[in-house]
Amino acid sequence: MELIEILEALNQTHGPSGDEGGVREKIEELARPFADEIVTDTLGNLIVHKKGAGPWMMLAAHMDSIGFIVTHIEKEGFLRVGRLGGISPKEAAYAPVRFKNGVQGVFVPEEKADFSKLKLDECFIDIGAANEAEAKTLVQVGDTCVYDGPVRVRGSRVTAPYLDDRLACAVLLCALEQIKEPAYNLSLVFTVQEEVGLRGARTAAWWVDPDICVAVDVTDVDDTPGSEKNGTARLGGGAAIKVMDSSVICHPQVVAKLEEIAKSQSIPIQRDIMRSGGTDAGAIQNAHYGVKTGGISIPCRYVHTPAETADLEDARACVRLAAALIQAEAPCP
Ligand code: CO
Ligand code: ZN
Repeated sequence: MELIEILEALNQTHGPSGDEGGVREKIEELARPFADEIVTDTLGNLIVHKKGAGPWMMLAAHMDSIGFIVTHIEKEGFLRVGRLGGISPKEAAYAPVRFKNGVQGVFVPEEKADFSKLKLDECFIDIGAANEAEAKTLVQVGDTCVYDGPVRVRGSRVTAPYLDDRLACAVLLCALEQIKEPAYNLSLVFTVQEEVGLRGARTAAWWVDPDICVAVDVTDVDDTPGSEKNGTARLGGGAAIKVMDSSVICHPQVVAKLEEIAKSQSIPIQRDIMRSGGTDAGAIQNAHYGVKTGGISIPCRYVHTPAETADLEDARACVRLAAALIQAEAPCP
C-alpha cells in the first residue's frame, strides 16, 4: 500500500492514549500479510514479529494520539473534559472533534475567557445536545474524543491531525512491506500511551527484550517564522536521525549506523535534536540492562495541533532508511 493510503486509513481510526483498540485493529489488518506472528501484550501494544537470523531488533512507533476525556456533563448538555497527553486548549480552540461512537462536536472556549492564558477548565465541547439527558444518550463520563479532520495533500506536503504518530506507524508498515530478508529477528512494535508518559514502550521493551531499538516519531522543526529554536530539523531536509531529545541521548553506535546506511544508500538525512519533549526511545533504552537505542524522526510542523504538517518525501526517506537498517548487517559489535 502507498504511504498516503495507509495514513488515510489510520487517520479514520480512534486511538487516543488508553483507548487504542480502533487503531490497533487497523494496523494489525495491514501488517498481517507480511508478519510471521502478531501479539497484543498486556497493556495493548501490538507486536509484529518477522523472523530473521541475527540479533533482536525492535522498531517502535506509538499508535496513540492526544485527545480529550469527558469528565462532566452539564445541565445544558455541554461537556467538560480532561486532557490525554499534551493537548493545548489554545491550539484546540474551535476544532471539530469526534468520539469513538461517531458522535461529533466542537471544542469551544468560553466567551469571557482570556485567550492568551486559556485554561482547559474554561473550555467545553458542544455536541449539539439540548440538555444533560440528551447528552447522556450520546456520550458518558470517561468517553474519549479526538480531533476530527481529513488528510490533506498538496504537492509533497501533508496536513492532518495525527501525523504524530500515525505517519510513523505508516512508515513502519511500508518498511515491513518492502523487506525481503531481515538481518534481525524483527519486532515492529506499535505502542500505546506514549503521549501520557511513554507507558506502553516501557513494558513492550521488556516483553521484546531487544538488542537494539529504533523509535520512529515526529520531531519539532525549526523552519517557520518566529521559531523558538526548539528543534534542529527542517521540512524537506530528509529523514532526521535523532541524536537527543529530553528523554534520551541516543546510543552513538546506533546514530553512526543510521548515518552510514543513509550514506551508502544515498538517502537524504539531517540530524535531529529536540530540546523539549520525549519519545518512546527514552523508555526503551532503560529496559532490562539497557538497550542500544536510537531514533528516526519525521520533521513535523505544528505538532499537537489539528493541522500537523509534514513532507511526504521526508517520510519516504524514513521508510527507505528503516528498510535498509533492517536488512543491513548487525550494528551491535
Ligand atoms: Co506527540
Ligand atoms: Zn509522537
